[in-house]
Amino acid sequence: MAEQKKRLLTGLQPSGQLHIGNYLGALKPFADTAPEYDAMLMIADYHALTTVRSATQLRENIVDVVADYVAAGINPADVVIFKQADVAQHTELAWIFECLVTVPFLSQAHAYKDKVAKGLEANAGLFNYPMLMAADILLYDTDVVPVGEDQRQHIEYAREAAAKFNIAYGETFKEPKEMILKGVGTVPGVDGKKMSKSYNNTIPLFGTDDAIRTAVMSIKTDSTAVGAPLNPETDITFQLHQHFTPNLAEIQKRYMDGTIGYKEPKELLANNIIATIAPMREKRAALSREAVIQILKDGAEVARAKAQAKMKLVREKVGVALY
Ligand code: ADP
Ligand code: TRP
Repeated sequence: MAEQKKRLLTGLQPSGQLHIGNYLGALKPFADTAPEYDAMLMIADYHALTTVRSATQLRENIVDVVADYVAAGINPADVVIFKQADVAQHTELAWIFECLVTVPFLSQAHAYKDKVAKGLEANAGLFNYPMLMAADILLYDTDVVPVGEDQRQHIEYAREAAAKFNIAYGETFKEPKEMILKGVGTVPGVDGKKMSKSYNNTIPLFGTDDAIRTAVMSIKTDSTAVGAPLNPETDITFQLHQHFTPNLAEIQKRYMDGTIGYKEPKELLANNIIATIAPMREKRAALSREAVIQILKDGAEVARAKAQAKMKLVREKVGVALY
């Protein structure tokens, strides 16, 4: 008999346009890893409510993120794609965990502490965020959770929630492990800092050819190096070539010889990025809103069945199930 695949689950905040840093650092490694697992991808729409106040914006972002992931290579036939708010057991289980952990414990969470340190008024949802995330993970007996380094602590919180529950009520939840996606390290933005939507230095993943060319042409070049051979170790354009250019050795040689100039490597890079993402963009354009909604409905049905079974057990264990 074939060995049963381990459960992998990850969550995504529906937060606007993806860039090529997200693609190389998160999306592509997820797409490459998922087939080895019994994989679930959850859109964290309730988590998003801790920061988003526009219903129109939220609806749009949910549809966009699903379309982006599917177009970029996540196959809904292999990965259960669903959204949190479609499975009420997530918020229900979060409450139970909130009753098991202490306020000082939750106040140590980085995401919450950062907001407070910035002088922002954190809402109670943000404070409880790690317990909703623990519920997302533990409801499905998840073995591994692929996340970026910034989410490592949240997985520790999930393990802690599982342990607290198991101690109080008997063995019920599996303790999950984080899987820090190696991906490609940090992809630089056009200014050389980490590419990030908060720095406005991104190259959009599903942008038009023009938008991609404009972003690439704006990559910062070291003006002090004019006339000298470019240094491929520090040149931002070259670092991006490493991810998109098939004949890298040839380009590298021309960098070393000082025969490539400044404009040409950018034009080549823009062409190569466009060539890589063109098929994804076509797939994205062909995905209707209705198709995305169907994917979410189908995924919710699968997730709900699993979550209901687990919650039935949990309700019995804590003593709220009488009949
Ligand atoms: P942003 O910094 O644009 O807000 P997020 O924090 O939403 O991006 O990141 C979503 C995912 O994409 C995370 O898993 C993160 O590790 C990955 N990611 C974001 N930016 C980069 C980057 N510049 N290089 C590599 N991975 C990245
Ligand atoms: N907090 C995660 C982030 O901001 C998103 C998330 C919500 C998540 N629930 C999850 C990630 C469960 C992994 C597992 O990136």
